[in-house]
Amino acid sequence: MPSAPPRPAKRAETDAPAIPLAQVALLGIGSQVPERRLTNADLSRMVDTSDEWIRTRTGIGERRILAPGQVTSDLAADAARRALASSGLTPAQIDVVIVATATPDQSVPCTAAFVQEKIGARNAMGFDVDAGCTGFLYALQIGRSLIASGAYANALVIGADALSLITDYQSRETCVLFGDAAGAVVLGRSGGQARITDMQLGLDGRGTSMIEVPGGGTVKPTSHETVEKREHYLRMNGREVFRFAVEKLSSLTRELCTRNHLTLEEIELIIPHQANGRILDAAATALELDPARMFSNLEKYGNTSAASIPLALDEALQAGRIHKGDHVILAAFGAGLAWGGALLTFEKD
Ligand code: ACO
Repeated sequence: MPSAPPRPAKRAETDAPAIPLAQVALLGIGSQVPERRLTNADLSRMVDTSDEWIRTRTGIGERRILAPGQVTSDLAADAARRALASSGLTPAQIDVVIVATATPDQSVPCTAAFVQEKIGARNAMGFDVDAGCTGFLYALQIGRSLIASGAYANALVIGADALSLITDYQSRETCVLFGDAAGAVVLGRSGGQARITDMQLGLDGRGTSMIEVPGGGTVKPTSHETVEKREHYLRMNGREVFRFAVEKLSSLTRELCTRNHLTLEEIELIIPHQANGRILDAAATALELDPARMFSNLEKYGNTSAASIPLALDEALQAGRIHKGDHVILAAFGAGLAWGGALLTFEKD
């Protein structure tokens, strides 16, 4: 093995005083999608479906798909570089790299290691989190807690998935839904444009079979049989997940408002996990909310799993949908069944 160059000594952050969780700041954000487009017309040549069915039942028009040879950490590293640029920090100032993904580059080592190397975050420790489509919010809570504890100063939290690689393009029930993307945020102890004021996460293991990839783990190790039975692809009970998603999006939003003494009218924008336009509409109806206050970019990207929320947040900011002083709710649900919500408060000045 070639000898690696010595790395600089880690900066001492372990004696910094703890700060309240609600003070942890969002210093920067960035995202990346692959160039390749997979349109509804393309899919209707692959399975028995149509542009009309996909648009009316899901709201999706096209998705972005990794090119052959591109991997999850490529997207993650691009999103991370953009988040770093918007934060003004250098890669060397990052202490923690957390990658939320259900589609790692390899099962060993963690994708965070590939990202750390690609972006040159030489002083960082890092690891992966897998909570399906809720993964980014799980990673955000972990990054936020590590910073608030005083143990680390700056964290890069990334949601990156390439679900196209575990999508069964013979199954019309699932293949119309998914696309690939990455989104990243930089967290720190002060400064930046917003604070992560509150977070709430949950998991209900009774729903493990609702969204699953049955093959390739210890339950069904990879074999000729698992490959022949297409057990390495994602399977889902669409109707049950739909019901769960509508209930969780509305209950999470209400609970975050109540806990923080806010009314729904005081929430400028809700950025939900982008799974299905009808889920977002049904949640808006349940909350008696103008659907325009539920951000959606589903039409362009479909469901990008752990990338969906940071990608949507980045687009909402770029589109001028969020202003100084706004409260914004992020809400996600997915495999586990897991769910999570976050309240962001944007600085007044
Ligand atoms: N094209 C044409 N027809 C289709 C397609 C398709 N792509 N897919 C399903 N159909 C058919 C079905 O076969 C069924 O036909 P039948 O009535 O003859 O049996 C009919 O359409 C209706 O099927 P439903 O499953 O009832 O369709 P529904 O309106 O529920 O939409 C969907 C299905 C889009 C999957 C929806 O249930 C959904 O979005 N569920 C939630 C998915 C989700 O949110 N996942 C998030 C988590 S994913 C993760 O964590 C990685």
